[in-house]
Amino acid sequence: MSSFLPEDFIEEVRVANEITDVISEYISLKPKGRNFFGLCPFHNEKTPSFSVDPQKQLYHCFGCGEGGNVFSFVMAQERLDFVDSVKLLAERKGIPLPGSLDRTQDEEARKHREELYKLNREAAMFYYQSLLSPEGKHALKYLKSRGINHRTIKAFGLGYAPNSWDSTMKHLLDKGFEKQLLIEIGLLVDKSQRTYDRFRNRVMFPIIDHRNRLVGFGGRVMDESVPKYLNSSESPVFNKSSILFGLNLARKQRPIDNLIVVEGYLDVISLYEFGLKNAVASLGTALTMDQAKLMRRYTPNIYIAYDGDTAGQKATARSLDILKDAGCNVRVIKLPKGKDPDDILRKHGVEYFNKLKEDAVSLINFKLDQLQSGYDLDSQEDKVEFATKAAHILIEVENPLERDIYVQKLNATTGFKPELLYRLMGQLEKPTDRTGLKKNLVGNNRYTTSVKKVRLQTPANLKAEKHLIGLMGESQEMAKKIIDQLEKGDFEDPVHGKVAGIVKELLDRDIEPKPAQILNYIKDDHERDKVIEIFRLEMEYDNVDRFIKDCVEELRRYRLEKRSNYLKEQISKMDREGNSGSTKYWELIEELQDINRRNKLGDIGKEEVM
Ligand code: UTP
Ligand code: MN
Repeated sequence: MSSFLPEDFIEEVRVANEITDVISEYISLKPKGRNFFGLCPFHNEKTPSFSVDPQKQLYHCFGCGEGGNVFSFVMAQERLDFVDSVKLLAERKGIPLPGSLDRTQDEEARKHREELYKLNREAAMFYYQSLLSPEGKHALKYLKSRGINHRTIKAFGLGYAPNSWDSTMKHLLDKGFEKQLLIEIGLLVDKSQRTYDRFRNRVMFPIIDHRNRLVGFGGRVMDESVPKYLNSSESPVFNKSSILFGLNLARKQRPIDNLIVVEGYLDVISLYEFGLKNAVASLGTALTMDQAKLMRRYTPNIYIAYDGDTAGQKATARSLDILKDAGCNVRVIKLPKGKDPDDILRKHGVEYFNKLKEDAVSLINFKLDQLQSGYDLDSQEDKVEFATKAAHILIEVENPLERDIYVQKLNATTGFKPELLYRLMGQLEKPTDRTGLKKNLVGNNRYTTSVKKVRLQTPANLKAEKHLIGLMGESQEMAKKIIDQLEKGDFEDPVHGKVAGIVKELLDRDIEPKPAQILNYIKDDHERDKVIEIFRLEMEYDNVDRFIKDCVEELRRYRLEKRSNYLKEQISKMDREGNSGSTKYWELIEELQDINRRNKLGDIGKEEVM
């Protein structure tokens, strides 16, 4: 196992997380027969072809072929690697991680964070209720004046913090939370003289992370006073630079083709209301690498839609580089000066915004345009400097065809011949990737292209291998029975051989080799799909012992046949080359005769078992 988590821990976590429970948190499942069905989260579909087998603890989609156990599901849905998916599910069930120096301390910290999330949820409920109560009337009116309807209020859980120094505090203390906790999470301001509510007379925006945990709040004034927005202070659960507002809703879109990064809470909310539910915002700070990587987990295609003013454009330029370094394909939606997406939507509607999105410029074009705006191209000097700096930008473009398009463009704006521009670029050294991160040129492969399986006629020996593996997943006794009859090298297909090896190892440790557990050891997507397919096979047989024997004999027959073909080939080769007298030659002949004899004795290979 290529991770540092101990296997028994991984298995403990897997068993604790019942697969239908976990998957139900993502999609709705309906029972049908002994399985559960739902709409596949891995591809677009209207009729459910995604099935979950609670007995085997596996899932499989008949439409796109995706399949796996609870870990692979979480890996795909949360875009995590294996180890992190185990950690997430461990946390889900409150199973402390192994190896930490002080498990109880870890456990306490986790419980403490849970308490803080709970507290935030309670506060959000209170703010929401206040918004709908008589004292929140003007706040509701404010939201309506900004065009926000009730459904959106609910979707984002918007609220109102009453105009009072202690009503939030009172409410939460009444609910049994400790004052210290309220201070720690920043709902209360704690001054030497007194303690009071941080958020007063503000419209409240709950900040929910991508795992649906309420980590903090932003609160907006309803007049021109400052600060316009007040945010929760940093706390063990609130780290501004790693959270994206709106990602909890955006990640529910399936499939996520792209994400739109905007500057403000209200931009995310307006876009959502206009049906663009894939927008996220950083919390009033420049985009960080953490946030870029978080987005990249969901899709490599990122649009930036920042205010067209200079501050917004500077922020755009910075964010662009970060997103690019995180491996994203970035495009910039050009907005008029002083306008944010909320303004555009309210004023011109969604079609206009979509048009702007369609016209979004690539990273390189954005940089070139920005660069050009600083030069007067009528001046010779400026022209040379501009072209030189532009060449610096263009050497970042890896695809030569794409590069050529920009060179043509540069030729059109400056008049310098393409050959010259290429020569200049050749002189400039190619900068090395700053982060060393691997770029994904193809895009989010697994999710955009789902491979349809083609059913080919399976050769008898491979069919037999599949049957044996399928049977091994039925019970420990069955697995033992089969393994005992097998020899090393019996399996032709390396993946089948790998599974047999895993089963053997588990049996040696007296562990029942359950299909879902076996999958823990198979990291490759294609291999996993293959194994899932086998465990789903319906087999028909009267007598299982006879069936196993037939299968094993088929493997042997094939192996001998293969060996015998090889020997024949070698022998005739030696004949041709005049080496028929050597010892080696006679050894080969002997082995071939031996095989023929054994075939006769065992009566194997006379009839094809299909
Ligand atoms: P904006 O000033 O652009 O506000 O700040 P906005 O989101 O467009 O809101 P409206 O339309 O004026 O009501 C963008 C983001 O910067 C953060 C907030 O996250 C805000 O959504 N910000 C802004 C603060 O944290 N504090 C501030 O005082 C102002
Ligand atoms: Mn705005």
